[in-house]
Amino acid sequence: MELRTSTTLSDSSAADHLTYLSGFDNHFSSEALAGALPPDQNSPLLCPYGLYAEQISGTSFTSPRKHNLRSWLYRVKPSVTHEPFKPRVPSNGKLVSEFNQSNSCATPTQLRWKPVDIPDSPTDFVDGLYTICGAGSSFLRHGYAIHMYTANKSMDNSAFCNADGDFLIVPQKGRLLITTECGRLGVSPGEIAVLPQGFRFAVNLPDGPSRGYVAEIFGTHFQLPDLGPIGANGLASPRDFLVPTAWFEDKIYPGYTIVQKFGGELFDAVQDFSPFNVAAWHGNYVPYKYDLSKFCPYNTVLFDHSDPSINTVLTAPTDKPGVALLDFVIFPPRWLVAEHTFRPPYYHRNCMSEFMGLIHGGYEAKADGFLPGGASLHSCMTPHGPDTKSYEATIAGGNDVGPQKITDTMAFMFESSLIPRICRWALESPVLDHDYYQCWIGLKSHFTLDHSTSPKTATLQNGHGEK
Ligand SMILES: [Fe+2]
Repeated sequence: MELRTSTTLSDSSAADHLTYLSGFDNHFSSEALAGALPPDQNSPLLCPYGLYAEQISGTSFTSPRKHNLRSWLYRVKPSVTHEPFKPRVPSNGKLVSEFNQSNSCATPTQLRWKPVDIPDSPTDFVDGLYTICGAGSSFLRHGYAIHMYTANKSMDNSAFCNADGDFLIVPQKGRLLITTECGRLGVSPGEIAVLPQGFRFAVNLPDGPSRGYVAEIFGTHFQLPDLGPIGANGLASPRDFLVPTAWFEDKIYPGYTIVQKFGGELFDAVQDFSPFNVAAWHGNYVPYKYDLSKFCPYNTVLFDHSDPSINTVLTAPTDKPGVALLDFVIFPPRWLVAEHTFRPPYYHRNCMSEFMGLIHGGYEAKADGFLPGGASLHSCMTPHGPDTKSYEATIAGGNDVGPQKITDTMAFMFESSLIPRICRWALESPVLDHDYYQCWIGLKSHFTLDHSTSPKTATLQNGHGEK
């Protein structure tokens, strides 16, 4: 029997016409065939339609209930039905999941990369993925890797499976149609997708040339940040996270290859059928996507610049309260209204390390040089802040500047408590901006002993303080 539940729509049209379930951390269920989900138990002797029951666990069996993640998949054939894994030839060679002196370098230097050109030769998502930096080890289940990708062709007769960690994918150019075992996700630039550890997925490129960023976390999963005094609402709302609905195909694909990333190395296993053969599923361990334009930003409404943590979309925690393995933070369009305040980000040094990317538009602290598709890295305690041009333009505006709206921008940050090591190819890359430091070298001293130029300071120094 050959049964396809898909339509004959093109990838482009399919990406725009998918249906989703809504929510974060929900226990979802979805059927592509009515009655395919066993109604009363997870693993009946015989499943409806003769399907196999298979569990995928995203946490240990004994994790506390509030953290426990698993889903049950009901599929035509179980995922174990494949030939042995063999090292992929040719391998990727630019993927790292255990960072040490043999594969990466330490440097406190401020780093910035220009956008990478999309290759001319046929390159799919897996071959076009390369690690920039990271820390820790996928084997020890603690750490992260930051990758980027450039691709120009859809994955063909193959699926990817990452045994090392969760992928948070940030497309910057070109939509992605991501087929997963739970169904399909259409992900446009301005949206993100999370593919949890172990799920098999294939990436098609409805728009052709594609580029983007990936944060990979080892040993934990993303969750929504607590809101504290903000209250019950704000930032990313659970209902705006979208989960695929069941979609499957029962079709022979001779030579179909599962590409498994395991310890940063790639392994191929051949089978003769599509891995996207799940007719129904239920559980809380699922791929999902999120539209960044749905983010409800909070910020100062009187003075000073809030810490960027106020813009956290998702966080991957460590065991230390308030200390993230990796935060995903965005800088979306928003109003700036602070009075007598230097409104762009302040100059600072951070015990956390900050990797930034730009999806579109500009970034308020960098007048030049930080481009869509580019990236920057400011590691632990490495000073950074607005470039000379941004600083001078801001103070030239004076104290009487009114509300301003930042538009046409979507920058983001992967921020980690672990200090990244940088891959050799990233430091040797032709798009590394060797003149990055020049953007601050021109910062001149505005120091003066004339207190009249700084009335608030003068008042404080005269011992009067503000009432
Ligand atoms: Fe920073």
